Amino acid sequence: MTAFKARKISDNVYWVGAIDWSLRDFHGYRTSRGSTYNAYLIMGKEPVLIDTVKAAFFNEMMERIRSVIEPEKIQYIISNHAEMDHSGCLERAIEAIQPKEVFASKMGISALREHFHFDQPITAITSGEEFMLGDAKLTAIETRMLHWPDSMFTFYANDGVLFSQDGFGMHLATTKLFVDENDPDIIHYEAGKYYANILLVYSSFTKRLLASLPKLNLDIKYIAPDHGPIWRRPEDIRFILEKWQEWAEQRYYNKAVIIYDTMWNSTAAMANSIAEGIAEHGTTVKVMPMNGSHRSDIITEILDAGALLIGSPTVNNQMFPSIAEVLCYIKGLKPLNLIGQAFGSYGWSGEAVKLIQDELQHMQVELTGEPINIKYVPENSDLAKCRELGSTIATELAKKLS
Ligand code: FEO
Repeated sequence: MTAFKARKISDNVYWVGAIDWSLRDFHGYRTSRGSTYNAYLIMGKEPVLIDTVKAAFFNEMMERIRSVIEPEKIQYIISNHAEMDHSGCLERAIEAIQPKEVFASKMGISALREHFHFDQPITAITSGEEFMLGDAKLTAIETRMLHWPDSMFTFYANDGVLFSQDGFGMHLATTKLFVDENDPDIIHYEAGKYYANILLVYSSFTKRLLASLPKLNLDIKYIAPDHGPIWRRPEDIRFILEKWQEWAEQRYYNKAVIIYDTMWNSTAAMANSIAEGIAEHGTTVKVMPMNGSHRSDIITEILDAGALLIGSPTVNNQMFPSIAEVLCYIKGLKPLNLIGQAFGSYGWSGEAVKLIQDELQHMQVELTGEPINIKYVPENSDLAKCRELGSTIATELAKKLS
């Protein structure tokens, strides 16, 4: 009696991955809903294992495999991505399975060797190359920087399954294997959150991939990523491809994000007044105080926003550490097409606003309206200026969108 069983997803493909209900941090990204590490088994004449799972979940994967086949009967392993959430137990899997051949992209081979320092032979697959493993007709598609230099997709033509490793994935622990069995609001949020936190910085590669995929004439019936549920309904496949296009292009809407931290509520009062000024124009505004907002949710909100305002008190001649941290994170992910401004409060020196402005400029945010820097506690006239800044931002954003 095994606790873990494989789940059939198409005529010949089984999901043999693992569910990580407790994951809450993925290299700095708060995975509030856990994740899955998806591995897949193609049960053709010569069975193929696509990817493995994080090291700690090796036994779960092997139990799922054993529920349909003795692992030693697997003939091939394809490693689509060398990051350790997919390759962490590859060496153990190779030892247990003893496959005839292991495949990865050329860069994947280097990355696997550099990670695990093992010397098992691995065969390089060339992008666009069609190859047969038993009766499985496969095509490898290199997807550099989506998410790492080694990344690739593998298409299994027999059942129309695109194994897309990190591509089109999301961090969502669920027993419902298909996207259409899950809450659509959660799917939409988590897919966007994943793109914003993992792939936004590589958007030029996403655009290239999306432009090249149709030329391959793949009859895609399933997109099976390495995290989260599988896309199978044509409308869902269309949705995620369109969303990726939109996110890669950094399309923005009539929406502003205000991030702030506060010492004695002065900067908080300013943020609230700016938000009122924005909202009176009908613009959506998300106010994200640092004491209740994680950087990974903040960048998710920025993904489709057209304006970004950041507020901080000055402390020890600097911006608040929480603001410095979120700026560092946002800057690394390179959101584009934003207008914005800095604001804050201070006691005697007041450097934070200028420091934030410098960072915004570095991020190519188009500074709009005047920065606001208030000594100690804002008066009504100061709050009126904040409201006016919000109004200016909303007006300028509407102009950009018209
Ligand atoms: Fe899911 Fe880039 O690893």
